[in-house]
Amino acid sequence: MTFDSLWDDLAGIGRDGRRGGFSRHGFDDAELTMREWFTEQADRRGLGVHADGNGNLWAWWGAPASGAVVTGSHLDSVPGGGAFDGPLGVVSALLALDALRARGFRPARPLAVVVFAEEEGGRFGVPCLGSRLLTGALAPCAALGLTDPDGVTLASALGRAGLDPERVGADAAVLARIGTFVELHVEQGRGLVTLDAAVGVAASILAHGRWRLSFSGEGNHAGTTALGDRRDPVLPAAQTVLAARWSASTVDGARATVGRIVANPGGTNVIASTVDVWLDARAPSTSDARAVVDDIVAAGHRAAASEGCVLTVREESYSDTVVFDAALRDRMSAALGGAPVLPTGAGHDAGILAAAGVPAAMVFVRNPTGVSHAPAEHAERSDCLAGVDALTAVLAHLTS
Ligand code: GLV
Ligand code: MN
Ligand code: MN
Repeated sequence: MTFDSLWDDLAGIGRDGRRGGFSRHGFDDAELTMREWFTEQADRRGLGVHADGNGNLWAWWGAPASGAVVTGSHLDSVPGGGAFDGPLGVVSALLALDALRARGFRPARPLAVVVFAEEEGGRFGVPCLGSRLLTGALAPCAALGLTDPDGVTLASALGRAGLDPERVGADAAVLARIGTFVELHVEQGRGLVTLDAAVGVAASILAHGRWRLSFSGEGNHAGTTALGDRRDPVLPAAQTVLAARWSASTVDGARATVGRIVANPGGTNVIASTVDVWLDARAPSTSDARAVVDDIVAAGHRAAASEGCVLTVREESYSDTVVFDAALRDRMSAALGGAPVLPTGAGHDAGILAAAGVPAAMVFVRNPTGVSHAPAEHAERSDCLAGVDALTAVLAHLTS
């Protein structure tokens, strides 16, 4: 099986004709097709494949056992996302196993490939849903009632996918099987371009989270309501978007983004009654991330009050700064001939596992433009092949 044939298999799944790129979200038709593809690939290789109670897929080379070296990533995407974020790590994991087997390698530690569920949170709002549930970072009661934009709960989406919602939750036995986790991922910046390297090793992840800011006002007529009589929640929402950029710009290394706004009921000639604004904020430290969010929320409250509106805020997810296991990172960099070590602002299942005390590491593959979470996301074929070689070398090193 070559990189091209596996990559071609996925090229037609979940294409988004409206947004461009791919829309594959946790347990929707596209993601289920991706999962079927993975199961079929694992079967073809004689790997024992099964879903855990949280919908993560596991393919074992040999019998499942504790202390394994596990590699993999995710198959879901952001809305209108690129081809590489997630699938590159899964395809590379399968090919790395193929390469090890082709050379007759016998791992001294168990090896497995994992596909984590709903990593982007593109459907139910919480990123790294599968790994958060597995590690206990998210309680089942908080997760099962999460709804997608159509009001479908996670519980019913799991049921539709043939999974039992009763089994959702922290699973110490499954977690204990992960002795070391290595996730290969397309880089989501231009660090490796600057360093002139095809692959690198992750150093750290910014503290990051998501907040839902709901502004409520009074729905009314756009033509007959005098400006002075309005309680229009779009105004404080707009001021909060501007505050997000300004607040983040005052803190070194911080970012704040509003990529999703929903005005209800959503009519051109209607003053909205409510507006939901989703804030994504990140910074090098928790205190900086919290300070930025507090600042934005305070600006939102002030803007809401001056328009006679009310703001309510809900934290949907939060992850503290992750510094990957230094010994593992250095071992991997050395095994890759001194591959550069670089930080990222993107969240990953590897970060969730690291926060739960699992030795975790990441291999990044160069992205020529740095664009990610967009259809233009790209990695050259030669760099993808270098990534497979790097992952193969790392897995061989960790299981020798
Ligand atoms: C995931 O890719 C994230 O950083 O949002
Ligand atoms: Mn992503
Ligand atoms: Mn990803």
